[in-house]
Amino acid sequence: MREYSIAAIPADGIGPEVIAAGIRVLEALETRLGDVKFNFKSFDWGSNYYKKHGVMMPADGLKQLKPFDAIYFGAVGAPDVPDHITLWGLRLPICQGFDQYANVRPTKILPGIKSPLRDVGPGDLDWVIVRENSEGEYAGNGGRVHRGLPEEVATETSVFTRVGCERVLRFAFRLAQSRPRKHLTVSTKSNAQRHAMVMWDEIAEQVSKEFPDVTWDKTLVDAMTVRMTLNPKSLDTIVASNLQADILSDLAGALAGSLGVAPTANIDPERRYPSMFEPIHGSAFDITGKGIANPVASFWTAVQMLDHLGEQDGAARIMRAVEKVTGAGVLTPDVGGKNNTKDVTDAVIDAIHSSN
Ligand code: NAI
Ligand code: MG
Repeated sequence: MREYSIAAIPADGIGPEVIAAGIRVLEALETRLGDVKFNFKSFDWGSNYYKKHGVMMPADGLKQLKPFDAIYFGAVGAPDVPDHITLWGLRLPICQGFDQYANVRPTKILPGIKSPLRDVGPGDLDWVIVRENSEGEYAGNGGRVHRGLPEEVATETSVFTRVGCERVLRFAFRLAQSRPRKHLTVSTKSNAQRHAMVMWDEIAEQVSKEFPDVTWDKTLVDAMTVRMTLNPKSLDTIVASNLQADILSDLAGALAGSLGVAPTANIDPERRYPSMFEPIHGSAFDITGKGIANPVASFWTAVQMLDHLGEQDGAARIMRAVEKVTGAGVLTPDVGGKNNTKDVTDAVIDAIHSSN
C-alpha cells in the first residue's frame, strides 16, 4: 500500500465546498485502485480562525504542515476581512516559507466547455503557465511613510534575484521539454522595466543553452494578452514573473471557459517541503453556500498533486473521468450547465469507479 499524508486547508467561501468534493473524488480513487491510501488531516485555518484568534493560522502553522506529503488548499478571502490580511496571513506565508517557487498553471479547453473565443475548441488551446512564486513584484518589499498625511508615500519594490530567475526559468525549460511541442514562451517587459526584466531576458538566454531541443521565444507581457487571445495555438509553455503570470493565468482561465476549472500547483521542485495544490479561483462570495461551485478546478489540482506524488496512473484516471463528465454535459452554471457541485462530483466518482 502506498500511503500519503495530505493536509487539507479548505479555508474560506467556496473553498470548503470544493475541497470536500475533491476529497470524495480522491477517496473514490483509493477504492478503485486498492493499493493507495490518502490520510487527510483538515486544518480550520482561514478567516473564521482569524476572527476568533486574530491570526489566519497559528504561529507554528508551517511547522505543523512540514511533515505532510502535500497540501490541498481551498481559497482565502472574506467580505469582512481585508484581502491583504487573508492573503499575507495564510497562502503567501506557506508559498514563501516552503519555497514553493514554481507555480504551475495548466489550461486547456475541456470537452463540453466552450471558450469565449470564437472558433477555438479543445486542442486549439493547451498551455501551461509557470509563474515565479517567491519574489518579483510580490516580494513584499516596501513601506508607507507619512501615513495618512497629504505627503504620504508608498513603495512596492520588486525584487528579482539571479538565483530566483534562474531556477524558475530552468524549471520552465524542463517542463517545456517534457511536453510534446517542446516550446517555451518567456513573457517579459524589458522595454519599460530596464533593470530586472533585462536581467530576466539575459538569464533566459543563458538557461536556454542547457535545452537545445526546446525552441523558445520572448513576448512583452502586454503583447502576450493579444497573442493569447488572437493566436492561442502559437503558445505551449509560458513563463512569467509573479505579477505578470498572476494576470495572464486569470486570462487563460477565462479563455478556457471559467475560472472554476483552472487549477494550480505551488511546487518546491527540490522537494524539501510539501508542495501546495489549489484551484486558481478565490472564495467566490457571490455563490458561497449555494452548492453550485464548479469543483473541476479542485479535481484538476488533485490531478497535479497526484502527478507530483508520482501517482501518474491515478492522476490520469481522474483527468479522464473529469473529461468524460464535462464531455457528457454534466456542468455547473459558470460553464453554462444546470448541474450543481454534488451532481458533477457524483458523476466524476461514477466515472472513476467504471474506469478500466
Ligand atoms: P473569485 O475567483 O472568488 O470569483 C470571481 C468570479 O468567478 C465570481 O463571479 C465567482 O462566482 C466565479 N467563480 C470563481 N470560482 C468559481 C467556481 N469554482 N465555480 C463557479 N464560479 C466560480 O475572485 P474575486 O471575486 O476577485 O475574489 C473573492 C475573494 O477571493 C477575495 O477576497 C479575494 O482576495 C479572494 N481570492 C483568493 C484567492 C486564493 O485564495 N488563491 C485567489 C483569488 C481571489
Ligand atoms: Mg490571481
